[in-house]
Amino acid sequence: MVVTSSPSQLAKDWAKGYTSQPTEYEYEIEDIEGQIPSDLQGTLFRNGPGLFEIGGETIGHIFDADGMLRVFRFQDEKVYFQNRYVQTEGYLKEQQEKTILYRGFGTQKSGGWFANLFNTNFKNAANTSVIYWGKKLWAMWEGGYPHQLNAETLETIGLDNLNGLLDKETFSAHPRIIDDTFINFGVSGISPQTLTIWELNQQGEKIKSSSYPVDGFSILHDFLVTPNYYIFIKHPFKLNALPWLLGFKSLEQCLSFDNESQTKILIISRQSKTMEVVETEAFFGFHHGNAWESEDKIYLTTICSDSFPQRENDKMELDKMSFDQPIYGQLWQLTIDLTSKKVTRQPLIERSCDFPSVHPVSVGRKNRYLYLNVASQPTNKAPIQSIMKYDQANGQYQMWNPKERSFAGEPVFVPRQGTIEEDNGYLLSVVYDASIHRSYLVILDAKNLTSPLAKCYLTHHLPQGFHGTWTPENFLK
Ligand code: CO
Repeated sequence: MVVTSSPSQLAKDWAKGYTSQPTEYEYEIEDIEGQIPSDLQGTLFRNGPGLFEIGGETIGHIFDADGMLRVFRFQDEKVYFQNRYVQTEGYLKEQQEKTILYRGFGTQKSGGWFANLFNTNFKNAANTSVIYWGKKLWAMWEGGYPHQLNAETLETIGLDNLNGLLDKETFSAHPRIIDDTFINFGVSGISPQTLTIWELNQQGEKIKSSSYPVDGFSILHDFLVTPNYYIFIKHPFKLNALPWLLGFKSLEQCLSFDNESQTKILIISRQSKTMEVVETEAFFGFHHGNAWESEDKIYLTTICSDSFPQRENDKMELDKMSFDQPIYGQLWQLTIDLTSKKVTRQPLIERSCDFPSVHPVSVGRKNRYLYLNVASQPTNKAPIQSIMKYDQANGQYQMWNPKERSFAGEPVFVPRQGTIEEDNGYLLSVVYDASIHRSYLVILDAKNLTSPLAKCYLTHHLPQGFHGTWTPENFLK
């Protein structure tokens, strides 16, 4: 008989996965079940929230927690772990003064409304993603500049404006790489906004850029790219900024999802830099899978839910989280007819899911396989715990389920060196096991997810993270 956790136990275990990890470690992982593949050589860089309290006071939202890198370097069937906080200005000041000095997406500064009055200065939490490009390691956060770090030591070098490329713009945490070109975007303003897109070459130098006005307020967290287009999904929101400006409420508490309005899809030509907007029914989702073109259509996969996962107040209280709320979404495929401007939607995965990705060579081209996190149970009212390989050719899938009180994070696909086959490689994911309050790195064979190749147990836990990337260099001295 399969014993599954009760919903309240599951919520408690899930919340325990967001316990602070103040200690910085550096060691070779010795507690390993299975065998690390000999051709797995390089680094898994991951980023995510690390501290949920400052001076004994709990922050308001996991999105506002200080960024902590978690790094796994592989060499000769061994793996070396290191975690380190990004030494942002805000992290250093708050650690020194031991109080919440900055507002965030869902966090208010200590000291009541007066301390927050007209204070629109968020802390750059540097907590969302990390990437190595143009010989620079960047910890990224969508509301500001990236922080550059030393890839060998993880020491923070400082904020990077990309040789003056960035001015008032932010540099988002969701770049895409297509045909050896690094593409990222940034937003300036609150409402309306300006969207700027940059293409960088392999040395990190600008190839081209373009800017567009975007009406109202939007949360542009992710985007898609194809050989000819950039695609942004602008979900409908209303912002009543006054209580936020007056210091009474956090920005999150002043937003409302506007299900009476339409979702707008911004389709921007990479060549002519012109923008077209098509509309479809209201939905929300943070993350997209992949997009591709065929004749006069664009196809894309994206995580969709009926509304934004808004909380009743600005208290973190994760253990009280009800998974009846749409904190994750389902995977849908959208088809955009560029001639008729019609959008059609089709559900692909109905259980809760998030963090979709494809083989790097499939970015912008029709992919067969999609890798993502899903709920273990086929209901959409559960936290994500498992890893799925979804076959878009026939709707079939393979899944790996960790033990029942465990939660797998974003799977990162690592191609086997010199191959381009979509499932010839490994899936790496950090799993939090609430039963022992420790985390481990799981290595799966992307061709067959059934039993892990290796589980590499840390001596401690890591808070559940956001995004990571792989680079074939391991930076070991
Ligand atoms: Co994201």
